Formats: sequence, C-alpha cells, structure tokens
Amino acid sequence: MKKHFFKHLAQTSPHPLALEISYANGAYVYDSDKKAYLDFIAGVSANTLGHNHPKISQAIKNQVDDYTHVMVYGEFIQQPQVVLCKLLADNLPDNLETVYLTNSGTEATEGALKLAKRFTGRSEIIAAKNGYHGNTQGAMSVCGAEAQNSAFRPLIPGIRFIEFNNSIDLNKITNKTAAVILETIQGGAGFIEPTNNYLQKVLDKCNKVGALLILDEIQSGIGRTGKLFGFENYNTIPHIIVAGKGLGGGMPIGAFISSFKIMDCLKEHPKLGHITTFGGHPVIAAAANATLKELLSANLIEETLIKETLIRKLLIHPLITEIRGKGLMLAAIVETKEIASKVILKSLDKGLLLFWLLFEGKAIRITPPLTITKDEIFKGCNIIIESLNEVLADY
Ligand SMILES: Cc1ncc(COP(=O)(O)O)c(C=O)c1O
Repeated sequence: MKKHFFKHLAQTSPHPLALEISYANGAYVYDSDKKAYLDFIAGVSANTLGHNHPKISQAIKNQVDDYTHVMVYGEFIQQPQVVLCKLLADNLPDNLETVYLTNSGTEATEGALKLAKRFTGRSEIIAAKNGYHGNTQGAMSVCGAEAQNSAFRPLIPGIRFIEFNNSIDLNKITNKTAAVILETIQGGAGFIEPTNNYLQKVLDKCNKVGALLILDEIQSGIGRTGKLFGFENYNTIPHIIVAGKGLGGGMPIGAFISSFKIMDCLKEHPKLGHITTFGGHPVIAAAANATLKELLSANLIEETLIKETLIRKLLIHPLITEIRGKGLMLAAIVETKEIASKVILKSLDKGLLLFWLLFEGKAIRITPPLTITKDEIFKGCNIIIESLNEVLADY
C-alpha cells in the first residue's frame, strides 16, 4: 500500500506522515497494525464530533437509501439541503439568512469573492498577510503568503494586502474596494486572534466606503471557539461568512452565507451567477444536519472553553513559549520549528496525532474533536509533555 501511495496518489508534501488507516472511532484513529492514535487534529478541524459518530453515520445511511445526487444545485427541492440552510440561518444573525452550499471551503471562498464583486460592481479585494482561504486560484489570490503564490502567478488581479490587527492599514480600504476578506482567527499564521476591537474597526471602515466584510469561518466556525461561529466572540457581524470543514462532521462541504438581498444578485445579469453540480449534495447535507443538530443540543460548544482552560493548565513547559487560539482551536508555540517537528513526530510514535500549521513553523496544532473527554485531554497532554521532556533532554 505504501509503495502505491507514494507512486500513484499525487504527492504535494515532501514528507507526508503516511499513516495507513484501518478504522477510526470517537477520538481515536487506528493504523493497519491496529495501533491506536488519540486524535488531537480532527482531520484538521473537520471531525467536529469525532470519528464514526452514530448519528452522522445513520443520517448518511438513511439519505443514501432515499436518494443521492438527483440534479445540479438549486433546481430541485431537496429536503436535506433546505433543512441545513434553514438551520444555519436560524442560528445566525438576521442578515446572514441565505446560504449557498459548496463542496469545499475554497469553493465557498470563490463564491463569496464573486458575490462581493457582483454586488458592489467593484473588483478590488483586500486580504490579510499570512491569511489562508483555500487553494483554487481565486482563493489563493487572497492568501497572503507570497512564497506559495509566486509560483502560480498571474493569479486574479486587484488584490491588496493588509496586516491583520493593524488599524493603520485600514486606510487601504477605499471606495474602490469590493470586499475585505479575513479569517476571524488567523489559522495558518499561528492561530492569531483579533485584538483591540479590530474586526469591528474593519467593519466600520467597510460600511463607510460601501465595501463588504467577508469573514472566513472555515476553521473558527462550528463550535470550535466557544460559539457556533467565531465572529460571535468579537461582536462583529460581517456581510458574508464562509464556512466549511467542521460543518460536514467529516464529510466534504463549504458554504457562503449572506443576506437575501446580497445573494439575490447572483440570479440575474447574468443569470446562473454561481453554479455547481454537486454542491449541497443531499448525503453531505444530511451529515451536516446531524452534526449541527447534535452540536446545538449537547453542551459541546460551551465545553470547548472549559477544555481550553484544562489544556492551557496542562501544557506548561519550559519549551512552550505561548498557547495561542481559543476554545479547541489552539496552538502550542515552541522556541524553534525543529522543536515543533520533533514533538509532533515523537508524539506520533507515542500514539498521539498532532500537526503543523501552514505558515508558522513553531506551532503545534491542537484541534481535537469537540467530543474529546477530559481523560483524553489528560492523556494527550501528558504525551506532549513527555515528548517535550525528551526534546529538552537532547537540547
Ligand atoms: C480558514 C480556511 N479557509 C479556507 C480553507 C480551505 O478549505 P478547503 O480545504 O475545504 O478547500 C481552509 C482549509 O484549511 C481554512 O482553514
């Protein structure tokens, strides 16, 4: 299997972990030798309720028995899609009431950017340095990591970059700007929270010049930061949000969400302003419905903050300089990227899944399923401390 993996499955990482999976359940993933790994990654913030959650599995099975794909997006009334869009709207502020479902986060970003350009009649987009919004060419154009982007230029023109949390940079938002796109909490950059009312300042500036604020909730959304969506922590209601990852509970999904008025402009001049064959697939929508319903009925969202406190208490070590992030979107920052890599690889050997962040080499990603128990947190954090101690001993 390993030989075929490296030859036939296109590789874009020079050093994939190459763990061969046999099954996964709850907070554990098992390799082909049945070795158990406690999952502190959750498929990179996607497995909101862990693995093989009975309610999600049952919803998928039920929907497969009823129907799978029947028609392209938006032509037929498919109950799982409609229920999902209504459920999202019911749990969002009034102006975030109309949902366009996509297959992935990057497609949601594409849709949101098109929507902002179409609604404002402007083309300039402002994005943040070290921001990450996906890897298709439009989304990549608003990712603020030139080392990645330069090999693929020309990307879409008219993108300007600002520094996240820098209020002076907001002068760059003008009446030429269609939209400002930001992650609510910067992910790849190192789990950086907005400070000093930053998001509200951006929104105020957008409102002043007639631009739209798009907040990327693909990683900070779906309960991970103590609220259903991350922006609720910062009292700022954007014009558009993009969601994905955890919304599908382990199935591929994305969504861009806005007011009925804004979204309505995709219907005319030209008609079919955004189209997809599989976006909103009924089986995926059924999985998302099961995920959201469970999340909203259990105390999992509030508990993320209690779990955060526990992790912060347990992860005190001379090599950890800081724990960044909120809820169960946390990163332990260590002194060097070599230390981060050693801890991630040593922990893997000891049966704990950790991972890197895209642009911050000194970060160790801690984004377990929201269903992680206290005992599992103790166990995982003990492994991290053990790995750190071993690295410190070799220092
Ligand atoms: C903040 C953010 N936006 C967009 C994306 C892209 O989502 P996807 O990989 O589903 O296309 C990601 C994925 O890591 C993300 O973290």
